[in-house]
Amino acid sequence: VQLKELHRVLLNWYKKHGRALPWRTRTDPYAIWLSEIMLQQTRVETVIPYYQRFLKAFPDVITLADAPSDEVMKMWTGLGYYSRARNLQKCAQSVRDSFRGVFPTEFETLLELPGIGDYTASAISSIAGSEPRIALDGNLERILSRWLGVRENPKKEGRLTILSFGQKLAALGSAGDVNQALMDFANQVCLPKHPRCDLCPFANFCSAKATNSVSEIPYRAPKKEKVLLLAHGRIFIANNHLLIHRRPNGAWLAGLWDLPWWLETERSPKGLPKEGRRFTTCAVFRTITHHKIRFEVEAHILGVKTKPKDGFQWLSLAALSDLPLPKPSERALEMALNSLEGRKQI
Ligand code: ADE
Repeated sequence: VQLKELHRVLLNWYKKHGRALPWRTRTDPYAIWLSEIMLQQTRVETVIPYYQRFLKAFPDVITLADAPSDEVMKMWTGLGYYSRARNLQKCAQSVRDSFRGVFPTEFETLLELPGIGDYTASAISSIAGSEPRIALDGNLERILSRWLGVRENPKKEGRLTILSFGQKLAALGSAGDVNQALMDFANQVCLPKHPRCDLCPFANFCSAKATNSVSEIPYRAPKKEKVLLLAHGRIFIANNHLLIHRRPNGAWLAGLWDLPWWLETERSPKGLPKEGRRFTTCAVFRTITHHKIRFEVEAHILGVKTKPKDGFQWLSLAALSDLPLPKPSERALEMALNSLEGRKQI
């Protein structure tokens, strides 16, 4: 099959089967950049409501650059990988200070900005700047490894083969659509497990299919064992308020509002109230980078809302729907509140 034919079939497939996603109606690099940062490590369905809320709160790069960092963190809470949110604002401030607020679209310029690496610069420059660049993420690596029969690590030995093929494809035009077509194709047809080769318009072209090795390609790195850790957390409830704590600098999730929690090997945070009446303990797991943390949370009721110490704040339980906690804490809180209702103690 000719590359030109492949390119044509791919764009036609995209017209028919591409997903209507909120960032696809946007052309401004700010909105495209935001979508690409949110979509790193996070599923499309999870991102959509965050994306819409975030753009409403911070409609342009200057608003984001000037916003209190706490507000930015709040809007990000629940999306995970919080260094993205910190870099996000740093990047907005760089654009404000070094580019007079005009978000760049050139690949080389984008690479200079915080939080923007090769993949993100390729995605933004192709989608918002029409540069002929392939944006290789894990999904595209999978498709191209299969098409080309590359068995080597697509991030290492296999990269050059994949990248040069991808660049040729992008050079044929509409690189932004080529990238997004491949992302959707990876999501609907060329799935990691059990790909839908029966629906694939490229089945005749695909080396992996021809050699019956779709399940062996792409190369998969051996899984790293996660390190198990134990952490303690506290739910303090008083007068329908929950005590939240700002994660200290230098700790994991620094700057984020969360339940007060600390690793088994750390001291509990300074200013944590004296224990109240304990009503339950629950355990959930949370994952941070390559650590799996057993998070044991004691829930206590305090008679009165003590004046919060530095770094603490009482949050009305009703306000929790606007300010979500990180997912594991939300789950622990939900379990605790359920147990409380079960006992009709409130
Ligand atoms: N993942 C990363 N970027 C994406 C995009 N623009 N559309 C869909 N999924 C994506």
